[in-house]
Parts: sequence; C-alpha cells; structure tokens
Amino acid sequence: MNKNILLCVSGGIAVYKAVALVSKLSQAGATVKVIMTESARQFVNPLSFQVMSKNDVYFDTFDEKDSSVIAHIDLADWADLILVAPATANVIGKLANGIADDMVTTTLLAATAPVWIAPAMNVHMYDHPAVKRNLARLAEDGYRFIEPSEGFLACGYIGKGRLEEPEKITALVLDYFSPKVKPLAGKTVLVTKGACSVTLDDKHVISTKANGELGKAIATKASSLGAHVQVIGEGIHDAYALVEEVESYKQQYPNPILIHVANMPSVEHTPKVSVEQTALAVTFGQQIIGEASFNVESTGWIEMSNEAIINGQVVDPKDGAQFAEALWSYLLEGGI
Ligand SMILES: Cc1cc2nc3c(=O)[nH]c(=O)nc-3n(C[C@H](O)[C@H](O)[C@H](O)COP(=O)(O)O)c2cc1C
Repeated sequence: MNKNILLCVSGGIAVYKAVALVSKLSQAGATVKVIMTESARQFVNPLSFQVMSKNDVYFDTFDEKDSSVIAHIDLADWADLILVAPATANVIGKLANGIADDMVTTTLLAATAPVWIAPAMNVHMYDHPAVKRNLARLAEDGYRFIEPSEGFLACGYIGKGRLEEPEKITALVLDYFSPKVKPLAGKTVLVTKGACSVTLDDKHVISTKANGELGKAIATKASSLGAHVQVIGEGIHDAYALVEEVESYKQQYPNPILIHVANMPSVEHTPKVSVEQTALAVTFGQQIIGEASFNVESTGWIEMSNEAIINGQVVDPKDGAQFAEALWSYLLEGGI
C-alpha cells in the first residue's frame, strides 16, 4: 500500500493501541505521520510514535518545523487518508461543531482527504445523547466510522467503547485502497431516515416514532460499497420539508438510488407529495392508508413490523448492520 496515512491521536486510554496501529500500517507499506493532542501525550510519549512512524510527530499548531509551509495545511494536503484513532468524545464534539483549537482539530478542518473516526471511550460516554448527536452530525457530514467493539473497558465496565484492534483497522485501510472497483462506485444513494410529522391544522400534528438507526446503517453500508451517500432527514421533522429536500438532491444528482427509510405519517386527506422518476427507489414501513403523503415510485416495497423479509431472508430491522447487509446484497444481485 503506497499511501500516506495521517493518524490523529486523541487522549484516551487506547492511545497505546495507536502505537501498534502505526506499526501495522507501516508494515503494510503505508507512510504514516502522527499528530497528537495534548491529552494524548499524557498517555504515550510522542517518541514512541516517532520511532514507529520514522517521521516527526506533530502536536503544536504554532511549531512550524518547515518555514516553507504551514504544517497543518501541508499535513492535511499530504494525506491520502486520515484516521482519528482513538477519537475521544471531546475531539468528536469539536469536529462536529467546527472547532479548531489544537493541531489535530485544525488539521481535520483543513482536510479534503477522507477522514475515518474510531471512537473509543467509556460505554456511558458513548451512549451520552450529546456524543450520539455529534456522531450523527459527523455521519451527515460524510465522515466514516470504525465502530468501537464490545468488551472489557479500561474503566472497569463491559460494553461498547473499545478501540477496534489495529490489525482490523489496517485490514479496512488495505481494503479501501485495494484496486477492485466497488459495486456502488459512481452512484449516488439518497437515504431518508428518522421520524416525520405532518401538520393537520393549526393545533394538531400527526407524527411517527423512529430513531433513524436503520437509515444510518443503510447509508454506512452504501458508503463502504463505494457510493456517494447523502443522508436526508437529520433534524427534519416536517414531512414536506423532507420531500422538498429529496427533490432538491435529485436536481443535484440525477438518477440517484433512493432508499426511503424515513417513517412518514399517514393520514386521510394528507395531500399527495411525489418523489417519482427516480431510477431506483425502495421504501419501507407501513402501507399508507388513505391518500399518500409521500409517494415513491418503487421497484421494491419492504414491509416491516418486528421483522422484514428481504429476498426470502428474514431479518431483524433492529439489527441495522445485518439489515443493511441483506438489503444491499439483494439490490446488487438485482443489478442496480
Ligand atoms: C485515565 C483516563 C482515561 C481516559 N480515557 C478516555 C477515553 O477512552 N475516551 C475519551 O473520550 N476520553 C477519555 N478520557 C478523557 C479525555 O482525556 C479528556 O476528555 C480530554 O479532554 C480529551 O482531550 P483530547 O480530545 O484533546 O485528546 C480519559 C481521561 C483519563 C484521565
């Protein structure tokens, strides 16, 4: 792998694993440069990263080692891929909010290369609504995640929050750069997700319940299959606003694959809104009773209650990853 990997290390207990990650990436043929936050330096001395990467380690935005360039811009431009591993709740929050107050976050905002974020933290931190909100925002901004694994955490808890193993991260990077053509390369996938409401009159709305997890899993899978993905629906509750947004993306990206996972309310006399003329659309959920609020010309309708059947396979919609896997295999088998 003849690629430049920029590793941004933030201050969690898993920093020691990032040293092994540099070693694995280097062995796989990558050139690795490392930026550390101040907190990360509390856990491991930069010298370890310097020795493993055989490159200078960066941690001070204002320490310009080469006077002919500005280090954070130069590093951002140099990278073919940027990994944030481990990514603390703090660095995730800063990136989601556009804060650039140290070398890691300043470089991340200057980057145009793909950025993969590998969160690692205490299970309660990972479950905190603020962290979830920030992760959802980053997903919308196009960041990819290396999900933490479950297991024994350094804080004594057992749960999700362990940094993925360096071997696994290296395998993902190798796979990403392998020359094979990804099946959804060159395609745009629009995924609607979450709950929606429709106003009935000036005192009433009808709304559905949905947490958006399924849409997120389907979008993540599409992205890993090489698609350009736009997730529509974060923070949009009004059904018509969502449909308008779908329409505007369709202007921007002709012939998208529309995966309509947003949970639309259905009610008699709801005016019909159409998102037709999409090359392929798949829609989920309840059959609409009465006049449709959202009419998708769909080659596939996936009925869902506690379980869904995709291509004869029974899948659990609560297991987003499994569901997304089954859905994309089915669609790809169909030759989209
Ligand atoms: C022993 C110890 C372990 C920590 N582990 C984590 C961790 O795994 N994940 C995390 O998000 N924060 C962890 N923290 C808290 C962060 O270090 C703290 O939020 C810090 O401000 C993060 O700064 P940074 O994001 O700039 O690196 C830990 C703190 C200590 C003292």
